[in-house]
Amino acid sequence: MSHKSVNVQRRQMVLGGTAAAAAGLLPSVGLAADAVKVGLIVPMSGPFASTGRQIDAAVKLYQKQHGDTVAGRKVHVILKDDGGVAPDVTKRIAQELVTREGVQVLAGFGLTPLAFAAAPVATQSRTPMVVMAAATSVIPRRSPYIVRTGFTLPQVTAPLAEWAFKDGIGSAITFVSDYGPGIDAEKVFVKRFTEAGGKVVDSIRTPLLNPDYAPFLKRVKDTRPQALFVFVPSGEGASVLKQFNERGLSADGIRLICTGDVLDDDLMVSIGPVSEGVVSSHHYSAAHDSPENKTYVEAFGRDNGGRRPNFHSVGGYDGMHLLYEALKKTNGDANGDKLLAAMKGMSWTSVRGPVTLDTETRDIIQDVYIRRSEKVDGQMWNVEFDKIEQFKDPGV
Ligand code: PHB
Repeated sequence: MSHKSVNVQRRQMVLGGTAAAAAGLLPSVGLAADAVKVGLIVPMSGPFASTGRQIDAAVKLYQKQHGDTVAGRKVHVILKDDGGVAPDVTKRIAQELVTREGVQVLAGFGLTPLAFAAAPVATQSRTPMVVMAAATSVIPRRSPYIVRTGFTLPQVTAPLAEWAFKDGIGSAITFVSDYGPGIDAEKVFVKRFTEAGGKVVDSIRTPLLNPDYAPFLKRVKDTRPQALFVFVPSGEGASVLKQFNERGLSADGIRLICTGDVLDDDLMVSIGPVSEGVVSSHHYSAAHDSPENKTYVEAFGRDNGGRRPNFHSVGGYDGMHLLYEALKKTNGDANGDKLLAAMKGMSWTSVRGPVTLDTETRDIIQDVYIRRSEKVDGQMWNVEFDKIEQFKDPGV
């Protein structure tokens, strides 16, 4: 069957043939079907716009470097801004992309609730959904059509909890944004740190939107643990770090440790020296020492006014790689089930290091690094000093 007739059938399945004809959609199918259409839904505005900007820039860079045609088919990316905070908006955009624009792949998803909202659309329309950013462990279980090219919070938190106890930290408070990934991070930190022999003396959850960290940091200051473990989504880290210092918690000798979301490379320059010495764990640092990453950071900076790529950009870049390689395997056939089968189990050398898309969980297996924020050539960088190789999402 040709790509064109597959597309017509699929669209009729979603809309119903009559509705599609009435909407005047069918005549456009012939031309449009020549390209594989990817609906990229990310926050390009609102509080999480940096996630969208980073992913969009990485997707553009991937296509610039690898061309916009693969296995004889053009890959046409349709960028949609969902504003980052309203799941119903993300869901509606996903539905429209599948039914009206005829996309064969959904991608992006800046935050967990937005990935949850789109998952049923992927399932119903049998459309592969490449989650590039959202990082709550359970996400791929919400649809058999989800694959994830970013990371999970349990995956990066477990190694840090164990490292912290080994490094002499005996008591800690957890401090997380009160939603999916934060709760994952809290649960896993408490479990692993306690199992290692440490004691978690308090667990604090802060609001995701418009948080005022002051009263929570006061609570930490009064309790005086040896360390504060922090997860906030990318974009929020600068204010937590600044207030941690301004309120004297650092001067009191409390150590801040965190996932790499807090020391987002997009923000490292503006955070500045207050991050010095902070130890964090993550799957990607712009300072990662490899030839692939050196090329990536240089090219990304060149195209984006000197900006550093962050971990979300790498989820986007690798998401495109996964799609391109899958299309090569299917000889350009963008049938959802065939693409998904081609994606499962794929391994490649990412700019973050070696990765594999787990055949069963559809999550990424990767090295997790322990890093320390240091000044290098006048700027702060997350310098990797230890790694846990090929670590799978351990779940919560
Ligand atoms: C998420 O909502 O899943 C999320 C967003 C930003 C992060 C991590 C997780 O940095």
